[in-house]
Amino acid sequence: MTDRYAVIGHPVAHSKSPQIHTVFAGLTLQDMRYEAILAPLDGFAESVRAFIAAGGRGMNVTVPFKLEAYELAGTRSPRAEVAKAVNTLVFSATGIHGDNTDGLGLVADLTRNLGIRLAGRRLLLLGAGGAARGVLLPLLEQKPAVLHLANRTASKALALRDEFAPLAGGCVLSAGGFAELAGRQFDLVINATAASLADEAPPLPAGLYAPGSLAYDMVYGKTTAFLAAARAQGAARLADGLGMLVEQAAESFFLWRGVRPPTAPVLAQLREA
Ligand code: ATR
Repeated sequence: MTDRYAVIGHPVAHSKSPQIHTVFAGLTLQDMRYEAILAPLDGFAESVRAFIAAGGRGMNVTVPFKLEAYELAGTRSPRAEVAKAVNTLVFSATGIHGDNTDGLGLVADLTRNLGIRLAGRRLLLLGAGGAARGVLLPLLEQKPAVLHLANRTASKALALRDEFAPLAGGCVLSAGGFAELAGRQFDLVINATAASLADEAPPLPAGLYAPGSLAYDMVYGKTTAFLAAARAQGAARLADGLGMLVEQAAESFFLWRGVRPPTAPVLAQLREA
């Protein structure tokens, strides 16, 4: 019988995950089907259980259910524990296992697809919500020299810094508001705020971008206000989050199937579309 997988969210119709995983399955010759499931806002757990009862083997979880997925999982990977969010569910006889592949997806996109070396570099991470939290540990594991957290509400960035300080290793982990960034320079600036969704850019001071620096928006599919401002302020390279999307999907696929799909073909296909 064909194994079933799905992405679950609200909304979910816009999700590119079915397309991505269908290409992965074709490239790796896996007998599986991947669909999109719209769960009612108050019916996440019921929808997951119904999918399991119908023979589902695994799910990707998207907005706004990543925290509920974390709570629903009976067992969780260490990286999901740190992220306090789950984007991948694996169903087996022993129950529901939760994992989080978002951070690894970002690092894979930066290092493999964009050819960026993170070790020894100065990183600026914008935002202190779930998206920022989810990528913090994988970024720290790359051993940057500096990782600064900046957020509109500075207190939230400071709290995140305090929480992750024991995991910082040799990296200088610091935090603050946007205004305090004046006079500082970074090699990589990652936008993990929700500002792009409202077509806004975080108010960043000029002079932030070091020569050769990359501005990266975790949102995909368009030149966001953040990326447009970064270009105007002298960022040498711009990238949206499409590569992160494909790479986190590949890691989920690996968790389910034990096979690592090639990501370049589907990334090229999505870029063309
Ligand atoms: P997510 O899971 O996407 O991270 P979230 O947990 O609601 O969502 O966090 C949203 C993040 O985007 C926060 O860091 C928020 O800043 P505040 O903590 O000050 O609210 C940030 N954010 C949202 N809209 C923004 C805007 N227009 N400009 C700058 N930051 C914004």
